[in-house]
Amino acid sequence: MKKILTIVGARPQFIKLAALSPVLRKYFSETIVHTGQHYDYKMSQAFFKELQIPEPDHNLEVGSDSACRQIASILVGLDDILSKERFDVVVVFGDTNSTAAGAIAAAKHQIPLAHIEAGLREFNKHVPEESNKLVTDILSDFYFAPTDTGVSILASMGIRDHVYNVGDVMIDLDFKYYDQIVGNKKLLAKHSLTSKGYFFATTHRAANTDDPDRLRQILEAFSEVGKPVVFPIHPRTRKVIGEMGWDSLLTESNIIAIDPIGYLDTQTLIAHAYAVLTDSGGVTKEAYFFKVPGIILDTQTEWVETVREGWNHITGPNKSEILETLRNLRIPTTHTNCLGDGTASEKIAQILSKNI
Ligand code: UD1
Ligand code: UDP
Repeated sequence: MKKILTIVGARPQFIKLAALSPVLRKYFSETIVHTGQHYDYKMSQAFFKELQIPEPDHNLEVGSDSACRQIASILVGLDDILSKERFDVVVVFGDTNSTAAGAIAAAKHQIPLAHIEAGLREFNKHVPEESNKLVTDILSDFYFAPTDTGVSILASMGIRDHVYNVGDVMIDLDFKYYDQIVGNKKLLAKHSLTSKGYFFATTHRAANTDDPDRLRQILEAFSEVGKPVVFPIHPRTRKVIGEMGWDSLLTESNIIAIDPIGYLDTQTLIAHAYAVLTDSGGVTKEAYFFKVPGIILDTQTEWVETVREGWNHITGPNKSEILETLRNLRIPTTHTNCLGDGTASEKIAQILSKNI
């Protein structure tokens, strides 16, 4: 069997790996590297356990640091691994620091590189993920775009070979666990929620957490939406709320502030929400999948198809814009499943096995 190296490091990448790994293993001998970018139990190990992802073969344990230092540490760790063992292909996911470091390491060791979620752009170099996307796409050999937008952006850069619109691997998992996700009414009861009677919210983008005024507007908007807001808090955001002394904004309001939660519980809470309020790419996609309207607490999104169909609305971290958009919220009549049909992972594995 040919040898494949998958590199993950952040929460959404564990979820993407949970979809892809079992399928890759039908065709390849897989080695998993966890960079250690995310390391809290609830941000990392919990997903391996819940989604039965095989234990990583290597954990680089790089932890939190500036982007440059984090990428440098991952590169050193990957250099050691790639110097000792030859792989036939390296797979990286999305646009985190772990993604860019994985791409550079594969290129320097001259190993074919496959990028899952290729071709997406924010067209804004101030967004930390944008340089990761650019570096990774420039160095890739196989481009697995999740949408037509990804394919056309790559074409506009002159990249046309080995470009495949396979759909989104995260959506594969929602198809796989659909009945379990939607059927878990006990979870709603646990939080005294009723289906469609609450909001689900997350925020962790650097642009929102690193600017107190933006985060404050987001939290104030949450407290004024008129329904309970289930808010599992990313450690980055938790840190800022603590530093700013804003804990009372969470405790004395309709906000149900909780620690990060597991994958299936998150999906259930998204599926039954009246709407989601989020700057997470993953949550934006999942809300679309479950036909739940979404407010994007960011000034842009890569998931433009879901905005075009009217499911998601870009408000930015602007309180009055968020509340005004919610007042006018309508359920769109069109839903084209533009993020895929649940077969992205199988397509990726088959394409790689035929071409490597
Ligand atoms: C990273 C990705 C982002 C992705 C997100 C998913 C980059 C540039 N950003 O952002 O694209 O959407 O992951 O969640 O790669 N922290 C902990 N415990 C952890 C992890 C993080 O306390 O297990 C705290 C640390 O204070 C750390 C901060 O969160 O400094 C930010 O973590 P980092 O991985 O740098 O960026 P994210 O905001 O998580
Ligand atoms: N998620 C989760 N628990 C939470 C919050 C999010 O399992 O408490 C899931 C979410 O459903 C999605 C993924 O984590 O599958 C998205 O990760 P995140 O928002 O951290 O990153 P992004 O998608 O913005 O890169």
